[in-house]
Amino acid sequence: MFFEPGKHKDHGFTFDPFKATISPRPIGWISTVDENGVTNLAPYSFFNAVSWAPPCVIFSSGSRPDGSPKDSQMNAEKTGEFVCNIVGAAQAKQMNQTAIHFPHGKDEMEFAGLEGLPSEFVKPLRVKDAPVHLECKYLRTIELPSVSDTARNCMILGEVVGIHIDEKYVADGRIDVTKYQPVGRLGYMDYCAVAETFEMNRPD
Ligand SMILES: Cc1cc2nc3c(=O)[nH]c(=O)nc-3n(C[C@H](O)[C@H](O)[C@H](O)COP(=O)(O)O)c2cc1C
Repeated sequence: MFFEPGKHKDHGFTFDPFKATISPRPIGWISTVDENGVTNLAPYSFFNAVSWAPPCVIFSSGSRPDGSPKDSQMNAEKTGEFVCNIVGAAQAKQMNQTAIHFPHGKDEMEFAGLEGLPSEFVKPLRVKDAPVHLECKYLRTIELPSVSDTARNCMILGEVVGIHIDEKYVADGRIDVTKYQPVGRLGYMDYCAVAETFEMNRPD
């Protein structure tokens, strides 16, 4: 089967399967503060590590229905900082709650009953129960192609300047992800959690 993006209906797909083809996608649970210091928290599954030394990450944001940026992007750009909290299976429900479309300046961390912890190098709080937090300094925004002026896409790039790992997930000098089971986004409304891993050495 072959189709061009946006032409999935010709093939009987009721919903564009693109996101299901790249799955699982990790979830960056992005905390920021606005210009008044109010916390904002939202999940982004267009999220990934894009380099290692120094470590850099991206999250990619669509726009609000009027074409204006979502709060996470706006706050990261204005304040130059954000935190990527990693979502374990135990945080999945609350992560989903924080996707609610609140007006600018309303705190989703408080709404979802989550506690925040201060960060070392940046102002945004970390989600206390999240197994891993990446403190990031904003680098730049790259505008991506869009289908209309009211459906813009932007990729926000940041450098990781501090990493917190909950000690209960560390053993023998390694992180054991199966202990917190990172949540991944599949297509549609489906999710997965990593409960099992396997190891392979490289050929050379
Ligand atoms: C699991 C999950 C992943 C999401 N990924 C994205 C994403 O990658 N990009 C995006 O623009 N919105 C994504 N959303 C929707 C945003 O979380 C939602 O629009 C949120 O209200 C944005 O909040 P903000 O304006 O506070 O940044 C996702 C929602 C969920 C539940």
